[in-house]
Amino acid sequence: MGTNAIPPPGTRRTVKGLRIVVAGALGVLGAITFLTAPNSANAAESTLGAAAAQSGRYFGTAISAGKLGEAAYTSIANAEFNMVTAENEMKIDATEPNRGQFNFTNGDRVFNWARQNGKRVRGHTLAWHSQQPGWMQSLSGSTLRQAMIDHINGVMAHYRGNIYAWDVVNEAFDDSNGGRRQSNLQATGNDWIEVAFRTARAADPAAKLCYNDYNIDNWTWAKTQGVYNMVRDFKSRGVPIDCVGLQAHFNSGSPYNSNFRTTISSFAALGVDVQITELDIQGASAQTYAAVTNDCLAVPRCNGITVWGVRDQDSWRSGDTPLLFSGSSKKPAYTSVLNALNAAGPNPTVTPTVTPTVTPTVTPTVTPTVTPTVTPTVVPGACSATLSTVNSWPGGFQTTVTVRAGTSSVNGWTVRWTWPGGQTISSLWNGQQTVSGSSVTVRNAAYNGSVAANGSTTFGFTANGSAATPTATCTSP
Ligand code: G3I
Repeated sequence: MGTNAIPPPGTRRTVKGLRIVVAGALGVLGAITFLTAPNSANAAESTLGAAAAQSGRYFGTAISAGKLGEAAYTSIANAEFNMVTAENEMKIDATEPNRGQFNFTNGDRVFNWARQNGKRVRGHTLAWHSQQPGWMQSLSGSTLRQAMIDHINGVMAHYRGNIYAWDVVNEAFDDSNGGRRQSNLQATGNDWIEVAFRTARAADPAAKLCYNDYNIDNWTWAKTQGVYNMVRDFKSRGVPIDCVGLQAHFNSGSPYNSNFRTTISSFAALGVDVQITELDIQGASAQTYAAVTNDCLAVPRCNGITVWGVRDQDSWRSGDTPLLFSGSSKKPAYTSVLNALNAAGPNPTVTPTVTPTVTPTVTPTVTPTVTPTVTPTVVPGACSATLSTVNSWPGGFQTTVTVRAGTSSVNGWTVRWTWPGGQTISSLWNGQQTVSGSSVTVRNAAYNGSVAANGSTTFGFTANGSAATPTATCTSP
């Protein structure tokens, strides 16, 4: 790691309070910069990032670690963009190639390049059906659910306090029917997305948490409506979500439609930020690029645009020539985007009071109550259960319950406990709950009732109230 490399998570935790103060100060400084920046249509900034900053927005690009040694690439990227997304390097297969063994070598390359050049970083992505390492692809049920939670915690701890926004969940909706995409994550239970967001909020309260998807740009498409309904539901139930990422990969099969502005403003009206996260347009029409830019500029909560690569040759769809640069040349689309950004006035929502980068009082440092490992008394043929708090935040917590078989296997289990202080479960996975007053009974799900002798399985839940780990009993029929 270079001098600006991220210190190891353990080191960072010891200065967490300091980091929050610094981040808060930077937030205020950033806002002051905005207030004093040129904000008239005549400012005519000469780079995309500076032009976007006039209205309090950013203009970003995907960066590939393998290209950071190419001066022709980095000179454009450094001059033009002020937000960076790692194109592949922070994905699950890159960051946790073996279960429990994290590797941030390439993620840190991109991160450090961005930070050393004064750019912010979007994190991409924590929970996704694609680009899973082999070990994760073969998991299912409670084991996969726990692996997802562990992955989110591991990656977010490494970059804690240093990521502008995380794509917490990526591409979880079906392409045509408006429902969820079938995947191993979806098969762990419909609540997997909200569990991912709750886990992410506790892991890094300073990061904005986004849901990110493609083909949710056209307001009339079922997929767009499906995601919209999920975000509305999350907002109504207090599931922590801050932003929606519209990937905006436009091509002949999924063309730009002028209702894109309706999509942006409709999501924003739910109380989330909207970010255009992976923009590329087949053929790079200057007119379409300007339309997309103006659609974002028209909605105060559309706070930034990221193009999915620097030059056409860097694109995942290079044959479509969909980006703003060809070799070292600015394309007509570049000029149309720059002009649109320069024509925008100041963004009325970007003021120090409305958009603080970090509000320390809202994000107190939460030290999860860690339940000491308890070795239960093993009764042959029976089972035992232990509650363990894995995350907590003001007013809520997340628990993993480990169900262990004794010296004989069990076929079906029932775990019971009584809440000490009015706690209520908001969402439970890998089990079936029955609640009667403060008494909770959880029976195995259809797929995890059989536990081998001396083996174990887990279920989990999020709950409202103060974190508690009451003693649980386990019985097996
Ligand atoms: O690095 C290896 C190289 O060593 C090997 O020789 C080569 C052989 O195929 O593969 C290279 O890795 C490829 C990697 O891109 C880097 O180029 C992978 O195969 C390839 O699968 C990977 O594709 C990425 C794709 O996500 C994977 O899903 C694209 O670069 C990346 O642009 C694309 O990004 C996604 C977003 O994350 C989510 N939204 C859609 C977007 C476009 O698909």
